[in-house]
Amino acid sequence: MRRKLVIGNLKMNGSITANQKLFAGVMAGVADLRNADYALCVPYPYLCQAQSLMQGSNVAWGAQNLCANEDAALTGAVSPAMLVDYGCTYVIVGHSERRIQLHETDDTAATRFNAAIKAGLTPVFCMGESKEERESDWTEYVVGRQLDSIIRRYGAELLTKAVLAYEPLWAVGTDIPATPEQAQEVHHFIRKRVARCNAEVAENVRILYGGSVQTENAPALFAMPDIDGALVGRCSLEAKAFVGICQAANQV
Ligand code: PGA
Repeated sequence: MRRKLVIGNLKMNGSITANQKLFAGVMAGVADLRNADYALCVPYPYLCQAQSLMQGSNVAWGAQNLCANEDAALTGAVSPAMLVDYGCTYVIVGHSERRIQLHETDDTAATRFNAAIKAGLTPVFCMGESKEERESDWTEYVVGRQLDSIIRRYGAELLTKAVLAYEPLWAVGTDIPATPEQAQEVHHFIRKRVARCNAEVAENVRILYGGSVQTENAPALFAMPDIDGALVGRCSLEAKAFVGICQAANQV
C-alpha cells in the first residue's frame, strides 16, 4: 500500500518572514495527520531556515534543483552534498519551468536524477506534455520519452529511491487542472511502463499529480488508484490551502 505524499513547490517565492508563518502554519496543521507524508521544497537560500524550523516535525523539506557535479569550478551551482548538509529529503528534478525557460533537457535531468540518488536524496522527477502535444495525441509519447530517459540509463530499480510526478504543462499555474480521470489515465500509463521493466518497482513507486491542485479538487484526485499524492505550487504558499490538501491525502 503506497502512502500518499504531498509536496509543496514554493518556486521563486517566499521571504524569511513569510516562511516563518508558512512553516509554522503547515507544521501545526499536519502535526496530527499521520497517514501521509508532507514536504516543502524551498528556494536554496531558505534551506537553512527550513532545517532549523522544521526538524523534528512531520514536515520534510527539500530543494527545487541541484547540480550533478560535486565540488567544481561552477559558479552559481549547488551540489547534491550541499543539499544533504541542510537535511534535505527531496529535490525536484526536471520541472517543466526549468525544462522550458532554462533549457534543461532529458539528458541533463536524467544526470541530476542519478546524482541526487547517489547522494541519498529522493528526486521528484517531473514529466508532462504541453497543450499542443496533448491535442496532437502525443501525451504518451512525450511522457514515455521522459520516463525512458531515466529508465534506459539507470534501470527501473532506481525508481525505488525516487518519486515520479506527472505535471501536464497546460495545468501548471493555469487554474485548469487535469480532471481526475485524465490524470489517472496518464498515471496508469506511467505505472504500466515501469512495470514492463519491473513489476514490483511499479507497484511501489509513488506517482504525484501536479497542476492546479487545490483543497477542492484534491479528494477526487487522491481517490484515483494510481495517484499517490500531489506536487503543489501556488497552494503551497498559504498554510491553510496547503494543509487542506494534506488533510485530503491523510483521509484516503
Ligand atoms: P501549480 O504548480 O500548483 O501552481 O499549478 C504546480 C507545479 O508547478 O508543481
